[in-house]
Amino acid sequence: MTDKIRIAIDGPSGAGKSTIAKNVARILHIDYIDTGAMYRAIGYKIQKSNIALNDREALKRTLLDTEIDFVEGNVILDGAIINDRIRTPEISKMASEVSALSEVREKLVALQRNMGQRKSVVMDGRDIGTNVLRDAEFKFFVTASPAERARRRWLELSAKGEPAELEQVEEDIIQRDHNDSTRELNPLKKAEDAVELDTTGLTIEEVTQKILEVVKWQS
Ligand code: DC
Repeated sequence: MTDKIRIAIDGPSGAGKSTIAKNVARILHIDYIDTGAMYRAIGYKIQKSNIALNDREALKRTLLDTEIDFVEGNVILDGAIINDRIRTPEISKMASEVSALSEVREKLVALQRNMGQRKSVVMDGRDIGTNVLRDAEFKFFVTASPAERARRRWLELSAKGEPAELEQVEEDIIQRDHNDSTRELNPLKKAEDAVELDTTGLTIEEVTQKILEVVKWQS
């Protein structure tokens, strides 16, 4: 295997990216960077500070004063662990909205590139293969049908004791896909050189194995 490897995993919400990315990172003993969590952290902070999204000056000031890090699998915002607080349907929506703002993307993409420069990483998101780590050694685009993704998200929410209507979850997913893939800045899109994996009907373990096969075979 080469000295340093960067693995980019992109795809829509609920395709299983983060669980798969975490598994791959654990097995290869390299760091995992959840870029969606970074957009969620900003969305959470903006919501908590009651900043209007069109107040660009306040937004810029807040971003200058924001620190995001990952420590031992925890998402840290300004020194506090915020893992569970950013996993609500409300923050999902907020994250999608703030991710379309140029100030937010500029800050987070720079941070992510910095993280990817220093060490081997598995990074998942929407624009990793097309933008953040354009020269990543390995790129994957993970998809699943909207119905399957809604079912997975619904199971996750139910397991957390947050019952939701399956239909509503699917509607939200379709809306977020639309927002994420039609926004002007770095939309969700498969990189030309990414390997596409449709996870509908596959287990997380099966997809993890497929990724590891590609990585090991080509390293
Ligand atoms: O993967 P996730 O659901 O945690 O991502 C939250 C939101 O952040 C999602 O609506 C899209 C956005 N996002 C993005 O624009 N670019 C990324 N690299 C990662 C996430």
